Amino acid sequence: MMMERDPAGEAEIRAEIGGDPDGGGPGIEVVETPDLEEAIREQEGKPLPQALPILPLKSTVTYPDTLTPLAVGQPRSIKLVNDVLSGERTLVMVASRDPESDEPRPDDLYEVGVVGVVARMLKVPDGTLRILVQGTQRVRIGDYVAEEPYLVARIEELPDVAEPSPELDALTRNVQNTFSSIIEGIPYLPEELQLAVANVDDPSALCHLIAGAMRISTEEKQELLEEVDVVKRLRRLSEILARELEVVQLGSKIQSQVQSEMEKGQREYFLREQLKAIQEELGEGDERQAEVNELRDRIEQAGLPEHARAAADRELSRLERLPPAAAEYGVIRTYLEWLVELPWKEQSEDDLDIAHAREVLDADHYDLEKVKERILEYLAVRRLKPDSPGPILCFVGPPGVGKTSLGKSIARALGRKFQRISVGGVRDEAEIRGHRRTYIGAMPGTIVRALRDAGSRNPVFMIDEIDKMGADFRGDPASAMLEVLDPAQNNSFRDHYLDLEFDLSDVLFIATANFLDPIPIPLQDRMEVIQLAGYTLDEKLHIAKQYLVPRQIEENGLRPSQIEFSDSALTAIADEYTREAGVRNLERQIGTVCRKIARDVAEGKLEGKARISAKRVRELLGPRKFFAEQKRRTKDPGVATGLAWTPVGGEVLFVEATAMGGSGNLTITGQLGDVMKESAQAALSWVRGHQSELAPDLPEDWFSKHDVHVHVPSGAVPKDGPSAGVAMATALASLVSGRPVANDVAMTGEITLTGQVLPIGGVKEKSLAAQRAGIKRVIVPERSKGDVEEIPDHEREDLEYVYVSELGEVLECALHGG
Ligand SMILES: Nc1ncnc2c1ncn2[C@@H]1O[C@H](COP(=O)(O)OP(=O)(O)OP(=O)(O)O)[C@@H](O)[C@H]1O
Ligand SMILES: [Mg+2]
Repeated sequence: MMMERDPAGEAEIRAEIGGDPDGGGPGIEVVETPDLEEAIREQEGKPLPQALPILPLKSTVTYPDTLTPLAVGQPRSIKLVNDVLSGERTLVMVASRDPESDEPRPDDLYEVGVVGVVARMLKVPDGTLRILVQGTQRVRIGDYVAEEPYLVARIEELPDVAEPSPELDALTRNVQNTFSSIIEGIPYLPEELQLAVANVDDPSALCHLIAGAMRISTEEKQELLEEVDVVKRLRRLSEILARELEVVQLGSKIQSQVQSEMEKGQREYFLREQLKAIQEELGEGDERQAEVNELRDRIEQAGLPEHARAAADRELSRLERLPPAAAEYGVIRTYLEWLVELPWKEQSEDDLDIAHAREVLDADHYDLEKVKERILEYLAVRRLKPDSPGPILCFVGPPGVGKTSLGKSIARALGRKFQRISVGGVRDEAEIRGHRRTYIGAMPGTIVRALRDAGSRNPVFMIDEIDKMGADFRGDPASAMLEVLDPAQNNSFRDHYLDLEFDLSDVLFIATANFLDPIPIPLQDRMEVIQLAGYTLDEKLHIAKQYLVPRQIEENGLRPSQIEFSDSALTAIADEYTREAGVRNLERQIGTVCRKIARDVAEGKLEGKARISAKRVRELLGPRKFFAEQKRRTKDPGVATGLAWTPVGGEVLFVEATAMGGSGNLTITGQLGDVMKESAQAALSWVRGHQSELAPDLPEDWFSKHDVHVHVPSGAVPKDGPSAGVAMATALASLVSGRPVANDVAMTGEITLTGQVLPIGGVKEKSLAAQRAGIKRVIVPERSKGDVEEIPDHEREDLEYVYVSELGEVLECALHGG
């Protein structure tokens, strides 16, 4: 038997009860006190009865001076209300400590309650009652005199204790103010309450009004009811209000955050709609449609293969459905632009006229016979069998020997577009193959970009610096390159960004490298390597006269009638101002001379024709930069001239050996690799083994009393390989025998401990380097003779080759005296 505060709330109850005079519809009976105020006055007049029926309240507390609606459902409470209504209409409302119990016992109830007069009663068809009770005074519950049919107990009045004081006033005002700050933030508090609170003067009644309205715990409510000291009660209430205020403020902060999020979204939507309206007003509403239409036309014309067309259509219809301000819109548009700009069907007709190709190649390049032959063969095969997959050419050679410019010539000869990419330093596979479109700022890889730039699906495509590709955690670009260059796979090359297959099989790929070794073997296997070794001085002169000088004259705005280079001038430039296998620096220095003359022309200082002699070159270019050093170097015993092969061409290399007092140690310096150090060890062992023949005058224990130091200058340049073995042995032999090495001899070859001389590579580059250095005789292994014979006659006419198979023969040729 329980009274519950009606969950629907006060206002509704009031309306229900006071609303319809007929009782609110069929089955609802309203029992009403004729005049509540009179009834209360009646009660106030009378002394309080000794005992009154007790109505237990579930989860609520009522207060004096307040009107409280209650729902009555338990049979014993219904009986109680009915009995009370037929008598004095007075009862005592007491809160229960146990909100779970339907029929609490006296022990379950608090000891302080409120006397109330039932103002109205309403019978609900389900048999329960709604009553409206006016609280009148606080009482203490004494002994229970009856428990059946409902509880009845003795009661004792419990009046307020209040002395007017400034503190009381201050507390009263504080509570009023705090409450009025709270009320707006709490939706369940009716607005009228604000006015009511402002108008209540009596501090005790104020407390009751507010405490009754707030949804705080039953314990707190009861605490406020039981506190007879009004000052203390007000203090307690203001604490509670302060806490509630904090909750309200926090709540409104959260609310405003949520709201501003929502408002932002709404604002954007709103602005977008406005933008649309403005665009329509300006006649631009169709701009997007126009863009979509334009893309559609371009897709139509791009001649996309089926799979690409399907993708393009799909993306276009996604584009149509997106607002242009969406980030995705831009992404899709960019993607579609890439799709339509790719040369899916554009291609050039190959000019397979071999005579014409020959003309073009000759017009652009001096000599390079072997390379040109190979290119013409390629054209011939294409002509006979147009759909055979072409070879991938790979030009390997030092800088400036014409690799790139040959590629351009091939394109010109075939009538194809030329496109060049450099993969030097590329470590990330995505640079070749692109990033997936899910990346911000994703782009196709360099292959697809170059194809778009070429505007043709069958360009000559030069991949520069393929030997300088790296690899790291971002993937292996070489394996992507492999796919590009493999004729079995490259008809379905897939760029990550496009995510569509593109047929690369008609592209003519030419790779270039300075160095064959670093190119991964699987890549080498797919390419046909063509070596370009470098030029002799004589060849350089021809190239300069026929190609470089005319080009530099033109590039510097001169006329052929204004400047002329003599052969000696060009020789001086090549010999004294450059040391290279190719002709790039030669061209640059010629350019420098031309520029200086151009300045004279511009300043009006030039009369007639500038004739450039060797002397003039030295005036214009300043002190010479390179010297032939080997004569000076090999004056003393212990120095031999070796020949090395480097990625930038052949190089002359001096091996120096010296001895000092010690205990038979060998020191090796000059940034040498392990293989080269081992050559030095082997050379020393051989020389020690042959001490008696090489230096009969030295004491037998000479080596165990001396330390030997082998040094190869140009220390900053790392050197490796076995081919300096012969030069090292010669330097050591020269040292111990005291016989200097002939200054016009250079040598190359690997040695064994038994003094055999083994063949080595790079013979052509090495002999070119020897020529540049002014060497007359070159000692090479017998078994490298074939390599020497491959060098065109005119490139070796200045050199004498001495073929050897044993160190003894080397020393015989190289050492003076003896
Ligand atoms: N045989 C030749 N005949 C005419 N000109 C040449 C010849 N060889 C090279 N050249 C010229 O030398 C210059 C440098 O050549 P190119 O740029 O092709 O060098 P490269 O081999 O590609 O060098 P790198 O390895 O540094 O890229 C070009 O201007 C080229 O025309
Ligand atoms: Mg190049």
